[in-house]
Amino acid sequence: MEVISATFVVSNTEVGKCPKGYLPEYAFIGRSNVGKSSLINMLTNQKQLAMTSQKPGKTQLINHFLINNEWYLVDLPGYGYAQRGKTGRSTMQKIIEDYIAKRSQLTCLFVLIDCRHEPQKIDLAFMEWLGESGVPFVIIFTKTDKISKGKLASNVEFYQNKMYETWEELPVMLFSSAEKKEGREEILIFIDSINKNINH
Ligand code: GTP
Ligand code: MG
Repeated sequence: MEVISATFVVSNTEVGKCPKGYLPEYAFIGRSNVGKSSLINMLTNQKQLAMTSQKPGKTQLINHFLINNEWYLVDLPGYGYAQRGKTGRSTMQKIIEDYIAKRSQLTCLFVLIDCRHEPQKIDLAFMEWLGESGVPFVIIFTKTDKISKGKLASNVEFYQNKMYETWEELPVMLFSSAEKKEGREEILIFIDSINKNINH
């Protein structure tokens, strides 16, 4: 699938103010700094469509980007950013959870995991909640340029084994490097296949 157009539509803190209509949307979630905004830029071939930063906590709003006038990519704030303080963290958590639980147009959530790290409690607990809430999601392991292919394979295997402790079936797992522009085609094909199913 080609991304012909990608335009910023609106930023807000309330799910009720997100764009009206029935276009399918795909949102990106994960710990702060995992690379959500960078991945949106990579997928859309734009440098600064979504704001990125070396410092965690950059994205603080729900951001809708309209793709090909047919579907949305949604950039969300990250979770688990300690520097925000307890109040800031729970405000952000509420924005994220409200959006995920209430947005009926949300077609699939991409949960981003930094491929370098061992499974983290916060991500595993978050995915448990998604499962309990019946939210369709897939995992994208990000920043694959930062480790070797061998290390990536063993980290992913470790991750899968950890998930098998609580999950009967594992979600689809994809890979990305915003730095090297890898994984773009696979993610777009994945989205396209769902969009085609919706339209038939
Ligand atoms: P918040 O908005 O704070 O939740 O962060 P985010 O998940 O949107 O992360 P963002 O895209 O802002 O990226 C954080 C940092 O990681 C930036 O310095 C990016 O350049 C870097 N980064 C993102 N993706 C990759 C990648 O695939 N490879 C490498 N090497 N760096 C990456
Ligand atoms: Mg961001």
